[in-house]
Amino acid sequence: VVAPEKLFGARRNSHGVEFGDRRALAALLRSRDRAPSGSWQAAPAVGLETKPASEVRSPSDGAVVGTVRELTSGGARALMDRAAKAVRASETVPARERAGKLRRAADALEAHEGEALQLLLREAGKTLDDAIAEVREAVDFLRFYADEAERVLGAPVALPGPTGEENRLLYRSRGVALCISPWNFPLAIFLGQVAAALAGGNVVVAKPAEQTPLIAAFALRILHEAGFAEESLWLAPGEGDVGASLVSHPATALVAFTGSTETAFAINRALAARNTAIAPLIAETGGVNAMIVDATALPEQVADDVVRSAFRSAGQRCSALRLLFVQEDVADRMLEMIRGAVRELAIGDPADIATDVGPVIDGAQERMLRDHMDAMRAGGGKILYEAELPASLPQGGHFVSPAIVELSGPEKLPGEVFGPILHVVRWRAGELEQVAQAIERTGYGLTLGVHSRIEATQRFVAERLAVGNVYVNRNMIGAIVGSQPFGGSGLSGTGPKAGGPNYLARFVREQVVSTNT
Ligand code: NAD
Ligand code: ALA
Repeated sequence: VVAPEKLFGARRNSHGVEFGDRRALAALLRSRDRAPSGSWQAAPAVGLETKPASEVRSPSDGAVVGTVRELTSGGARALMDRAAKAVRASETVPARERAGKLRRAADALEAHEGEALQLLLREAGKTLDDAIAEVREAVDFLRFYADEAERVLGAPVALPGPTGEENRLLYRSRGVALCISPWNFPLAIFLGQVAAALAGGNVVVAKPAEQTPLIAAFALRILHEAGFAEESLWLAPGEGDVGASLVSHPATALVAFTGSTETAFAINRALAARNTAIAPLIAETGGVNAMIVDATALPEQVADDVVRSAFRSAGQRCSALRLLFVQEDVADRMLEMIRGAVRELAIGDPADIATDVGPVIDGAQERMLRDHMDAMRAGGGKILYEAELPASLPQGGHFVSPAIVELSGPEKLPGEVFGPILHVVRWRAGELEQVAQAIERTGYGLTLGVHSRIEATQRFVAERLAVGNVYVNRNMIGAIVGSQPFGGSGLSGTGPKAGGPNYLARFVREQVVSTNT
């Protein structure tokens, strides 16, 4: 068995998927796979009212991964009361000191990468490649926001003024920042939000998704050990009702939310209903992400990029390709190649290094996807391919067949179908504007792919559509912190982009002090 610290260290960005020692790592994970099962725990701070402990089960095989004590609504309100009392102490910690703690946490996460990977595999059903990429992304977020804290918040900004007057722009913490995150990136998105809020000097209340509290508790332990005081960083495990109680509390000064568009609307309404200070909402939500392929595109590259974009992470990425527009002239050939590539995907236990597609997160998602396929079979679309699930799959897992469905028009897609199902629509030469209008009509604006060797087409698509991230002649997932700041507009979110130069500024309050010297 190779120690995890020896396996990592060469790469320092979220390209971790290319890491050379996957086989050694897989052997390590397998050898210890069962040992910690059931031993992980997540609980809020001592003294807060919780529900009785409940089991967290793996989406791969239903085995118990650990236990969680979820807050009651009363416990959530009491937590916010306590968090509010720590605001004064937190806001006086200098930005450089906060950055130092975030860097220590990044080092610690690398040192504990083995445990993080095991949690991602067991609790979230991530494949090994996805888990490695996620840990790298989480480390990147910690280091990126540490750098940003020093760059953006490190010193007051001197502003112009007449002789005898000094004007300074200062960045103050907002107070209690509430971070609410989804299950599909339970480490990277969870830590990314929390790191930015801490970098801004806020007291942070971190509400993980109900499906993935254990990895959140692990991440908070790392941050606490890196020096963030217990009173300035709180874990709030629970379901949506706990999130709602936290949002409604008068001490909530900012909400950073990643999840579904529907929940973002609910949070917006709840914030508006409070008769207290107006709290900003940063919302990063879903997408009906399209890729446009024209007749000049390279078929092999298209097939590879389509399969990666639609089926990696079992399609459970907000960035994933949902709607492929392929030009009629080349459609049959392209679709045959894509079908061939999907047929090669290995569906299985995430702990197996050969697995390309693991389970979906839970029974509810599995049922939603099966119902969608039933609706497609009943006339909504034409099934071009549906994989047969292997008999060797672990019992009790939530596996869904990767599938390709052709639609007679884009309006046949009912919305964001969060799973390994690709929808295809054909378009004819000269109809690019109609394709753009169809994408626009979805109301979402997260990611967009274009495969074309015509520069005018690449430019037209990028300029014409209000989407956050455009990918030209490549796959459309796996945005890299600092290089590809991520986030959309319209139904996909409010901005600013995570991992970008304008993110941190939203987590602080600006103050101008004008002094007559
Ligand atoms: P979700 O909206 O159901 O839940 C997200 C979080 O919100 C969870 O912690 C949940 O407990 C909490 N929540 C639920 N109701 C709440 C309420 N009324 N008030 C406060 N909090 C509440 O989303 P999900 O199913 O966990 O995640 C999948 C969704 O997230 C997809 O739509 C996906 O596209 C989106 N997503 C977006 C991004 C992005 O960066 N744009 C990234 C990842 C996932
Ligand atoms: N940031 C993630 C991606 O780009 C969601 O795939």
